[in-house]
Amino acid sequence: MQKSLSFVDTFRAAMSRTAAGVAIIATDGPGGRSGATVSSFSSLSLEPPSVLACIHLTSHTLAAIRLNRVFCVNVLGEDQAALAEIFARDCEPRSARFAQGAWRKAGSGAPMLEGAVAHFDCRLATEFGFGSHAIVVGEATDALSHEGRPLIYSARAFHRLP
Ligand SMILES: Cc1cc2nc3c(=O)[nH]c(=O)nc-3n(C[C@H](O)[C@H](O)[C@H](O)COP(=O)(O)O)c2cc1C
Repeated sequence: MQKSLSFVDTFRAAMSRTAAGVAIIATDGPGGRSGATVSSFSSLSLEPPSVLACIHLTSHTLAAIRLNRVFCVNVLGEDQAALAEIFARDCEPRSARFAQGAWRKAGSGAPMLEGAVAHFDCRLATEFGFGSHAIVVGEATDALSHEGRPLIYSARAFHRLP
């Protein structure tokens, strides 16, 4: 017998049919170093160049971004799925996640990941709350792109572009 799905399950199932790039949003400063995997990252506007990400209100990285006022969006390459998993998994202290991967500082001081296909170094411009998440808006102060193809998240799994 087929179980009836709650609307949240139906919504999740429909969202799993979409495809998204994967990024590590990372920050450093007086609030400490923190980073988390996000697939909700998107371009927002060209005037001014800006991006957004939707981050759960319980996220340690959101708390650090609010204090540091800067972050770098590191768009992962197709070989970086293991890093996406590490930056999504619970770990204490949170900064221990940075033991994996080669990191250096972007102009803002936020962590920048070697091998990412794009970097958007941002200052926190504003944030909006809706439901369980904050929509974090970053005004880009620098943007870098590199050879390579992006990691894709779809149907609850990581993929490479064909
Ligand atoms: C592929 C993937 C995409 C994710 N996208 C988001 C997202 O867009 N927003 C979010 O709040 N959490 C997202 N997560 C979950 C966070 O990475 C996870 O909750 C993480 O532990 C948060 O860390 P923090 O509390 O140290 O900030 C995603 C996880 C995965 C594996």
